Amino acid sequence: MTNVLNIAVLPGDGIGPEIMPQALAVLQAAAQHTGLDLRCESFPWGAEHFLRQGEFMPADGLTTLRDFDAILFAAAGHPAVSDERSSWEFVFQIRKQFRQYANLRPVRSYPGVATPLQGDPAFDMLIVRENSEGEYAGPGGVLHGGWDNGVAIQTTVLTQTGVERIARYAFDLARQRRRHVTNVTKSNAILHTMKFWDAIVADVARDYPDVTLDLLLVDAASMKFVQAPGVFDVIVTTNMYGDILSDLGGALAGSVGLSSSANLDPTGEFPSMFEPVHGSAPDIAGQGSANPCGLILSAALMLRELGQGEAAARIEAAVAAALAAGVHTRDLGGRASTAEMGAAVLQRLEG
Ligand code: NAI
Ligand code: MG
Repeated sequence: MTNVLNIAVLPGDGIGPEIMPQALAVLQAAAQHTGLDLRCESFPWGAEHFLRQGEFMPADGLTTLRDFDAILFAAAGHPAVSDERSSWEFVFQIRKQFRQYANLRPVRSYPGVATPLQGDPAFDMLIVRENSEGEYAGPGGVLHGGWDNGVAIQTTVLTQTGVERIARYAFDLARQRRRHVTNVTKSNAILHTMKFWDAIVADVARDYPDVTLDLLLVDAASMKFVQAPGVFDVIVTTNMYGDILSDLGGALAGSVGLSSSANLDPTGEFPSMFEPVHGSAPDIAGQGSANPCGLILSAALMLRELGQGEAAARIEAAVAAALAAGVHTRDLGGRASTAEMGAAVLQRLEG
């Protein structure tokens, strides 16, 4: 029996429509090899759609997406549209309504790709970012309006359920890796929420005696990212620290064009969404020079999440092999076009 999976494809804006065909070609080749029938349906939603139609997606857009097994998304954003609206009316709608509480961001070095670090050290870590509450939960407000006596309050919200589920998710992942979790926190200064966070993470750790747990304050962790990135395996952290550290990690890897991510509803009730860490890069859109690897690697994360770990690993190996062979787009200091980079990955997948 052929395994059929339905994928919603959102190329979005800017470089999105340039890199998506490369990712889909690699995805289909990997699927074919494993006898998987991937049915992809594309939707032209995002900021450019807003400029044309006055909405980022149709009113029933989420209902449409709900029926798919997963969503592959490039990026949304256009200079003529407010970024806040693109985020809150489109991307965040999908992440929040589909309860994608776990954000996975792998950060690794690649042989043949220069890092900004001396000696190009090897590292391979997985940042597990809490994606639904914490510092970005939303409650707060500005009192008094004017600046003279103004007061602004933004409240961090952590729930027992929210912290426990992300901690369990991180420990489960560590069991498939090097069995080490680092809890990145700030409980020396943020006494209520972060001590609560630490206590729950430590409590969950007791159920995983085969996994070691370290605690690191976020400032010290930032330093260690630069000085010894190889010490990290799985990192579990809050929404804001995960956001910041994953950009730092992406920069350490050599280019944001290589960074992939997954927004997961691990319960499987709603479809999860897979997207590169970068945005729509309007500064290089239309030039055919964008790096498609971040999206290709996000497609690999999608396959793994859909139970196709072998196909995922083949894509990851093909990307690493193409990079090691010196096929580099402009962001990596090379001259390969988007299409040439995609073709180089495809060739190694089939070879
Ligand atoms: P960006 O990630 O689009 O670009 C930052 C820099 O990295 C630019 O110089 C760009 O040329 C380069 N870059 C990004 N991806 C690349 C790739 N694949 N290959 C080669 N170079 C690449 O971030 P920026 O400029 O802050 O935002 C641009 C737009 O994207 C904004 O409208 C922003 O709101 C949106 N955005 C959307 C995201 C999403 O849809 N999840 C995430 C981040 C930004
Ligand atoms: Mg960010």
